[in-house]
Amino acid sequence: MSKPKTILITGGTGLLGKGMEETAPAGCRIISVHQRDYEVAGSKAKQLVLDLREKRAVDRLFEKHRFDAVVHAAGIASVDYVERHYAESLESNLVGTLNVCSAARRAGTHLIYVSTNAVFDGTRAPYKENDPLRPVNKYGRIKVECERLVAETQAAFTIMRPILMYGWNHPVTRPNPATWIYAKLLRGETVELVDDVTENPLYNVQCGEALWAMVRRKPSGIFHVAGKDAMNRWKFGVTLAKVFGLDAGLIKRVTSARFPDIAKRPPNTILSTRRMETELGVKPMTLADGLEAMKASMHGPKTPGKC
Ligand SMILES: NC(=O)c1ccc[n+]([C@@H]2O[C@H](COP(=O)([O-])OP(=O)(O)OC[C@H]3O[C@@H](n4cnc5c(N)ncnc54)[C@H](OP(=O)(O)O)[C@@H]3O)[C@@H](O)[C@H]2O)c1
Repeated sequence: MSKPKTILITGGTGLLGKGMEETAPAGCRIISVHQRDYEVAGSKAKQLVLDLREKRAVDRLFEKHRFDAVVHAAGIASVDYVERHYAESLESNLVGTLNVCSAARRAGTHLIYVSTNAVFDGTRAPYKENDPLRPVNKYGRIKVECERLVAETQAAFTIMRPILMYGWNHPVTRPNPATWIYAKLLRGETVELVDDVTENPLYNVQCGEALWAMVRRKPSGIFHVAGKDAMNRWKFGVTLAKVFGLDAGLIKRVTSARFPDIAKRPPNTILSTRRMETELGVKPMTLADGLEAMKASMHGPKTPGKC
């Protein structure tokens, strides 16, 4: 019998990592890394508390385990936090990525780096994988640097660019647009949502499936991973209210001018999913289907297939 494959997921307790864990094939062993001192109950992964900024700790992790692949998703993922805390974000996102890159390169491990749609300026959607990178905020700038670092130092790598992700997050991690809007509507509070930022939202479980296809196939180059429907945040909220039977009348349609103090967003970063569909065999989900799946999984995820 062959030995089970061991996969490292950095940021494994985050929304993306949770989607991966829920879709993990049988027979795969997951080692998941996060930095704060907590443990997620009921996780299938072996959870380690480790700060990726610490090079020696990262090196030791790779000395101790032989990984079949590494999915590097950890980092400060809040666009507004990065804008306000640039130095700290550089350390976490760029130095952390440098440390993971060095260790993966020395171990000869395939690295899947999780980037973002925010590498684009949002003026020429839909975006294909090789379109020019023109970030409009600091979060996007750091991701561009990380992509370059990965592409220029790794022998075997995939760069994966997800877009606005939604799904049930672990309560210890930050909420996402779906859980945030859901909680506000449930409490009967008004929600202001912009109609001038357009994306094709991605269900975290579908993101997990796409990542497992990458782990299996180890394709090289860049892949966009996104949902089927292009929509603005206001439409996102209205669709969510409808699916969950909440009051859409509480959702107020506004423009980005209403929030002058937050980081600039690219107006339209719809990602082309052609490569994801043809090379990974992953069909993009509609938002309504993703939200219905979310509603159905309020009582626990389904069991996935083989490694
Ligand atoms: N969510 C989206 O809509 C979206 C869209 C495009 C791209 N992305 C990218 O996708 C990736 C995953 O996003 P996410 O939404 O799943 O993030 P998230 O929910 O905010 O989770 C971030 C994870 O990274 C860990 N982490 C942060 N800094 C670390 C460090 N220095 N050392 C070790 N672990 C660290 C966190 O651990 P602690 O909990 O211990 O802090 C947590 O497990 C990120 O790279 C993000 O930029 C996300």
